[in-house]
Amino acid sequence: MKTLRIAGLIGFIIIFGLTLMVSGQETVEEICIPMGSFYIEPPEDVTAKRASVDFPHSRHFDYSCKTCHHKWDYEGPILGCTTSGCHDGLEPPKKVGTTAEYNELSMRYYKNAYHDMCLGCHKSIKKQNILAERKLRFTDKDTKLKKAGPLTCKNCHPEE
Ligand code: HEC
Ligand code: HEC
Ligand code: HEC
Repeated sequence: MKTLRIAGLIGFIIIFGLTLMVSGQETVEEICIPMGSFYIEPPEDVTAKRASVDFPHSRHFDYSCKTCHHKWDYEGPILGCTTSGCHDGLEPPKKVGTTAEYNELSMRYYKNAYHDMCLGCHKSIKKQNILAERKLRFTDKDTKLKKAGPLTCKNCHPEE
């Protein structure tokens, strides 16, 4: 299963390279996918209150890339989350306008975007596990629940 998935990724990179060559571009671009883990750091101008987050990128590859890289068009490069015009806000916005307007503004703030996505998914897995556990009391106790990611601050931002 693991080997298959890695083979899939290599295939993907080669196919991507070929398409660009066929379309007559001089430089063959390729997507360099960070495997394993890397640190997610705050943008340069932010004085961090918490330690940066050691993010196990490839342990999330059971999900489609678009789950997180939601603006990716499968062709161009995959841009970082804090790219200008995306989640590029360095401070929490003031409450203005309608709730919808505020929510959109709120997601510009990079911290909200990360917390919304990372904690949002981990939370929903935990919720499903709680529901499953309730059902399991009446059925099969040996069924394994899905492993969820962390929700506690220090499990993502270790105390220094
Ligand atoms: C659970 C969320 C998640 C999933 C799923 C995910 N990624 Fe990522 N990926 C991230 C985050 C977060 C970063 C760091 C972005 C940043 O630094 O702004 C990242 C960074 C990257 C980068 C580097 C982008 C840059 O800033 O240069 C590439 C390339 C990438 N991912 C490719 C992929 C591919 C291909 C897949 C699917 C196989 C994938 N990712 C699946 C969250 C995810
Ligand atoms: C769509 C769902 C989803 C999203 C989005 C997501 N995660 Fe996860 N995360 C998981 C699941 C499922 C696991 C458990 C995977 C495993 O252990 O094999 C996990 C595991 C982790 C772990 C490993 C904890 C351990 O046991 O070592 C860390 C750290 C983590 N996630 C951080 C993040 C961060 C940071 C983000 C946002 C950039 C993020 N996750 C986004 C689903 C998600
Ligand atoms: C699933 C992982 C995860 C959990 C759990 C989490 N965070 Fe974060 N947090 C992140 C990521 C990713 C960023 C963006 C990278 C950065 O700024 O370090 C971030 C950014 C931040 C920032 C802005 C940057 C800074 O250091 O000032 C603060 C403050 C913060 N988190 C506080 C918290 C607090 C408080 C909790 C617990 C209630 C928490 N976080 C729980 C992933 C997480």
